[in-house]
Amino acid sequence: MKRYWMIMLSLLVLAGLVVAACAPPTPAPAPAEKPAEAKPLKIVVIGKSVHPYWSNVEKGVRAAAKDLGLSDDQVIFWVPQKEDVAAQIQTMETYIAQGVTGIAIAPSDPNALEATMKKAAEAGIFVTTLDTPPVEGSVSLVYIGTDNYSAGVIAGEAMKQLLPEGGKVGIGRGSDTALNALQRTDGFLKAIEGTNIIALEPVNDKEDAATALQLANSVISANPDLAGAFGVYAYNGPAWATAVKEAGKAGEIKIVCFDATTDIINFIKEGVIHATVAQREFDMGYKSVQIIKLMAEKGVEAALAEMGAKNGVIDTGVDVITAANLKDYEAQLDAKGIPHEWTTEGWEPPENAFEFKME
Ligand code: BGC
Repeated sequence: MKRYWMIMLSLLVLAGLVVAACAPPTPAPAPAEKPAEAKPLKIVVIGKSVHPYWSNVEKGVRAAAKDLGLSDDQVIFWVPQKEDVAAQIQTMETYIAQGVTGIAIAPSDPNALEATMKKAAEAGIFVTTLDTPPVEGSVSLVYIGTDNYSAGVIAGEAMKQLLPEGGKVGIGRGSDTALNALQRTDGFLKAIEGTNIIALEPVNDKEDAATALQLANSVISANPDLAGAFGVYAYNGPAWATAVKEAGKAGEIKIVCFDATTDIINFIKEGVIHATVAQREFDMGYKSVQIIKLMAEKGVEAALAEMGAKNGVIDTGVDVITAANLKDYEAQLDAKGIPHEWTTEGWEPPENAFEFKME
């Protein structure tokens, strides 16, 4: 009996060795784990355009720097004036040359940015993405932001509930390359499939609010029967709202958009925007700084695990806001200590306010 067990044990040990020998080598975490004390930490966050949405990201970046005891020189936030792939590449190059600790970027064109992101990773810089996902197989160690396809589906569901009879819907967006714009559009189109809603070809303003307004005006005048409008980027909702008001069709053309900047909230209070899918951009900025610091201190895997990344993604989530739940949303922000410039004080939702229900 003893002999039997000895044989079994040897076989098990042998099997273990064989499995270990056949197992693929554990991939080396990229970039190399460098000791935190090698250089003072420097983290760079690169956004996409000058806009209150990005100011909220910056607030998150600054709040993280403060909470984590980093100075203003150690945490840089930068955005181009408007969508500008060349400027994003140029800025990355500058910080690669400086040998910073980490760069978090929202790539306006993930294909165009990937080579520079790779160069940064090869130089030992922790590269992450926020707001706008990278290409598949990217060197980006984590994407921190909205699940844009699902969020687009939610926007489409809201439009379906607002337009039960269907009708023509215009789509305004700021990019034909950034994955967040493409995925939101795809999700929206998926949600309205099989309904009587007809989506017009999206118009692209290249993250320029003035162009967005012009385009919204022309879509409205070219389609006198327009029933709804979908604003994909933060300024698209207000662009539609302004154009709809100018056309004297406030409340009549249903507007669903993204984000919760002050102008959008004011249009919701006014009854011109019917629903918005609010992203949590403050958290995107905050977590981007937090994770790069953790990577530098504890290594990539430990940082990803500690921050709850799943398959290289930290989904920051969304909130659907309508006039019916605006006050609750404000209370939620206040409870989390997230700053906002608007208030619902002295305002009450109308009796018949649209209430969104996720099916
Ligand atoms: C998007 C950003 C964009 C911003 C302002 C947001 O909805 O997530 O990528 O830069 O709008 O245009």
